[in-house]
Amino acid sequence: MTISGAAVVGGVCGAPIKHSMSPLIHNAWIRAAGLDAVYAPFAPRPEDFETFVQGFRGGAIRGLNVTIPFKERALAAADQASDLASMAGAANLLIFEADGSIHADNTDGPGLLGAIAVQAPGFDVAAAPVVILGAGGAARGATAALLLAGAPQVRIVNRTVARAQALADAFAEKVIAAGDADLPALLADAGLVINATSLGLGGGEGPAADLTLTPETAVVMDMVYKPLRTEFLRRAEAVGRRTVDGLEMLLRQAVPSFERMYGVAPPAEVDARGMLLRILGEG
Ligand code: ATR
Repeated sequence: MTISGAAVVGGVCGAPIKHSMSPLIHNAWIRAAGLDAVYAPFAPRPEDFETFVQGFRGGAIRGLNVTIPFKERALAAADQASDLASMAGAANLLIFEADGSIHADNTDGPGLLGAIAVQAPGFDVAAAPVVILGAGGAARGATAALLLAGAPQVRIVNRTVARAQALADAFAEKVIAAGDADLPALLADAGLVINATSLGLGGGEGPAADLTLTPETAVVMDMVYKPLRTEFLRRAEAVGRRTVDGLEMLLRQAVPSFERMYGVAPPAEVDARGMLLRILGEG
């Protein structure tokens, strides 16, 4: 790998950033592709985020992934945004154009759909309603991506129903809000059930949804990837449902980010998933 004065510079910013796996993923791809490029982690002070971003105008760096807690502010800092980023109300990718403008995009949505395509091949998002557990930023991004992909209805189920309602109100009539008491009825004809809460992180119990109520053809997905096989996914497997893990989503969102920053596809020979599994102690 060469990093010359002409290197293409990309990166990721968040607070904190030191646990991010994005630098490992992108630099493995850079090395394998033999690019004169680098991908660096940044942890700006939260109060300085806007100054930090504006300083890159004109291409001081080519692109920046954005993670917690800056995704909403990243969208606001940009001059233009993709439909998906606007709908999601958040951006996880900023591209700094040579003309000085900043373009915001959201690759979490393609990441979610890409993970489903890989781990539940043939699944049709447009065929049945989706149940999303949780109403935070992750749920909002997923809702935008699923609506754009043709989901007939998205049902937001959250402990705090008012928060689910606020999310539903931000979208059109295809999104409904509900509390845990409505869950059994909403699961009965669901095609896809997604955990977008933090429940299950670190090995604890996942959301209390009774997955035996879902149709046999339903796909169950977890955005949590530590551990890889969450309690929620293990429960889904126990009743024979196809599952999609959060690690695949993490990996799939990195693919379009890499392409936009470095202008080439990630080299197919890199086993990025295997690398991440080893880092997580799962490989
Ligand atoms: P993110 O941006 O990752 O989506 P967030 O905005 O903090 O994170 O949202 C976390 C989600 O997990 C919320 O839907 C939250 O429910 P509330 O809105 O009721 O707080 C949900 N969540 C977190 N801990 C929970 C728990 N112990 N039981 C049920 N839901 C929980």
